[in-house]
Amino acid sequence: MPGRQAGRDQGGHVADLDAETARVRGIYETMAPRYDRVIAVAERLLFGGGRRWACAQASGRVLEVAAGTGRNLVCYPADVQFTGVELSPSMLAQAQARAETLHRRVDLRLGDAQHLSFPDASFDTVVATLTLCSIPDDQAAVREMARVLRPGGRLVLLDHVASPTRPVRAVQRLLDPLLVRFQGDHLLRQPERAVRAAGLVVDELTRSRFGIVLRLAAHKPTNR
Ligand SMILES: C[S@@+](CC[C@H](N)C(=O)[O-])C[C@H]1O[C@@H](n2cnc3c(N)ncnc32)[C@H](O)[C@@H]1O
Repeated sequence: MPGRQAGRDQGGHVADLDAETARVRGIYETMAPRYDRVIAVAERLLFGGGRRWACAQASGRVLEVAAGTGRNLVCYPADVQFTGVELSPSMLAQAQARAETLHRRVDLRLGDAQHLSFPDASFDTVVATLTLCSIPDDQAAVREMARVLRPGGRLVLLDHVASPTRPVRAVQRLLDPLLVRFQGDHLLRQPERAVRAAGLVVDELTRSRFGIVLRLAAHKPTNR
């Protein structure tokens, strides 16, 4: 298909990547060796405690979408059955190494969050941290998260988003094209809208750091 590149997850699923998703994969392939150093700074400035908050809500069969280098692995309860999907092979290799260091049994796969290869209702919890800012079609990714959640299952998000405060959002609007171009990072996302549009019910939504940092927990109604 023109403009699409083939990628293969370890479950044997072939995903055709559109041009923007392939570009984002290239950005993270390049960034992978320094990702942990770079993100540690952002964690200190913006996301303090966010990873522990997100992972503490995970139970049962857990899917982490865009698991990156596996920085959340240390935060999950010991008894979760963990599956992670990630676009970049180099990020995924680091997650695998981290899981081995932590002696955690995990199922880590290459894959595209916009086209998950799991059947409907496969997971009790879906977690995504600092992820929807990077996925080209964040709404498609949220729809996929909702699809693979079982009825009653929980979605937990931690991300940087569009601030509701006008002057802050104006700065974000200025920076957004540069960040998208060079980092594949979107500053103006509003995941809570995509979550509601996907039919999930928001249980908790808090903002901090001038409204830029979002913590969101939602569930899939049992009648879906
Ligand atoms: C900012 S990093 C966050 C990594 C990790 N979630 C964390 O909390 O450290 C964004 C990650 O999203 C991944 N990603 C971007 N688009 C994706 C997609 N369509 N499917 C799966 N992963 C994707 C990137 O490869 C990268 O590892």
